[in-house]
Amino acid sequence: MSDLVSVETSDGVRTIRWNRPEKKNALLREMYTAAADAIETGETDKGVRVFVLGGQPGLFTAGNDLVDFMEAPPHIGSGDMPPVERFMRALMTAKKPVIAEVDGLAIGIGTTLLMHCDLSYASEKAAFKTPFADLALAPEFASSLLFPTRLGRSAASDLLLLGTIWDAARAKEAGLITDVFPSASLADDVRKKALILAAKSPSAVRQAKELMMTPDEPISDRMNREGGIFAEMLQSPEFSEAVTAFMERRAPDFSKFG
Ligand code: COA
Repeated sequence: MSDLVSVETSDGVRTIRWNRPEKKNALLREMYTAAADAIETGETDKGVRVFVLGGQPGLFTAGNDLVDFMEAPPHIGSGDMPPVERFMRALMTAKKPVIAEVDGLAIGIGTTLLMHCDLSYASEKAAFKTPFADLALAPEFASSLLFPTRLGRSAASDLLLLGTIWDAARAKEAGLITDVFPSASLADDVRKKALILAAKSPSAVRQAKELMMTPDEPISDRMNREGGIFAEMLQSPEFSEAVTAFMERRAPDFSKFG
């Protein structure tokens, strides 16, 4: 538990918010630990269908706390599993969908982590920046691979070499985020998206996410693998519920499935 991270769960949506506004939500080890706990416990809680990761009005995060960096330099991949790595691994391996809500600054890891969320929404107040070259640091958490692959090499260089600040329109155009909503309604708009996801078949959402996270493979291999999963899911009670609901002209109720 940490006062610097708030965690609330309702209607299947677990909302995790950085809460250190006086330091621009700069992230401390205890904050990563609290967020990792919230994701890990949510993964095994049937009452949690979707995670939302956000900050405070007008502020997502100014990135890792630089003083904390100096005091306890993390060595990712060394086996020590520092809190930032634990948090990022929880995020990267979450089977349930994670939605990022960015209102204001998203610096450093605040931008990096978007590559590991399923959907990201931002407001016109958002500003994305990865100033690693300015800080004499390297990219982190596979962003040197994921940015070029997903955004293209030149856009990745704009972020990772030049450290250019992107606004929400640029981030959307490049595919860094899903969509832009007004700051005043961002939290409500994101919650609406989360509730839509939370009401869907949990198995179907899990399978689709897992498939999208699975590394490249030949198209015919992927098609066959999807086919096996599809055939299995045609036999599931969740599919029965979907078809029954269609016949009965009502919305499906997947609330009893986990
Ligand atoms: N680590 C530690 N403290 C931070 C911080 C960070 N990443 N970002 C902001 N803070 C602290 C400031 O030191 C300041 O503390 P103080 O009030 O005790 O002096 C407080 O948060 C407010 O920040 P301030 O710089 O006064 O606000 P600003 O609106 O003028 O600027 C930022 C905000 C985020 C643009 C600026 O603080 C900044 O560039 N921070 C560093 C961002 C960064 O490099 N992150 C690491 C990426 S790896």
